Amino acid sequence: MPAPTDRILLSSQQIQERVREMAADIEADYPEGPIYLISILKGAFIFVADLARALSRPSIRIEFMAISSYGTARTSSGQVKVTRDLDVNIEGHNVLIVEDIIDSGVTLSYLKTLLDARRPKSLEIVTLLDKPERRIQTVDVKYVGFRIPDEFVVGYGLDFAEDYRNLSDIRVLTP
Ligand code: PRP
Repeated sequence: MPAPTDRILLSSQQIQERVREMAADIEADYPEGPIYLISILKGAFIFVADLARALSRPSIRIEFMAISSYGTARTSSGQVKVTRDLDVNIEGHNVLIVEDIIDSGVTLSYLKTLLDARRPKSLEIVTLLDKPERRIQTVDVKYVGFRIPDEFVVGYGLDFAEDYRNLSDIRVLTP
């Protein structure tokens, strides 16, 4: 079974500082009113919890979606399917899709198109991690925590075969 190396890519402290900065940027961009944080399960569950607590207004609405990918879903021809949809209407609201990582861009391209059709007032993407080298589909991401190299990372919500999500820092997995 692979184990996380001792190489910490991003320490818990680095992550927490960056999350606070991202929250400050979001507060500045949305001076008032509710913000809907749409967290994509499972990987984003820790990030959204920290981001939500770093935002100061009471009207932060936290919602969850789950998706699954089929076959070669990590390629441009891959298919993404919603397995748990929102149970709120986002029409007319400021909405942020909250992700742990953007890789090929397939998932977020799909989600952006899907949610745009529901006519939110605004729709932007927040991701903690971005691997730009892996991009297959272009997607406009407004808030990026860290741009990282193409290495397999775990921790802070990110898994390998469902393990390691609970690590408080982000580590590179041993090959
Ligand atoms: C990860 C991540 C994104 C997606 C990004 O989810 O949370 O949803 O992959 O990849 P893409 O840019 O290539 O589409 P994953 O499938 O690992 O599921 P999980 O969040 O449940 O771990």
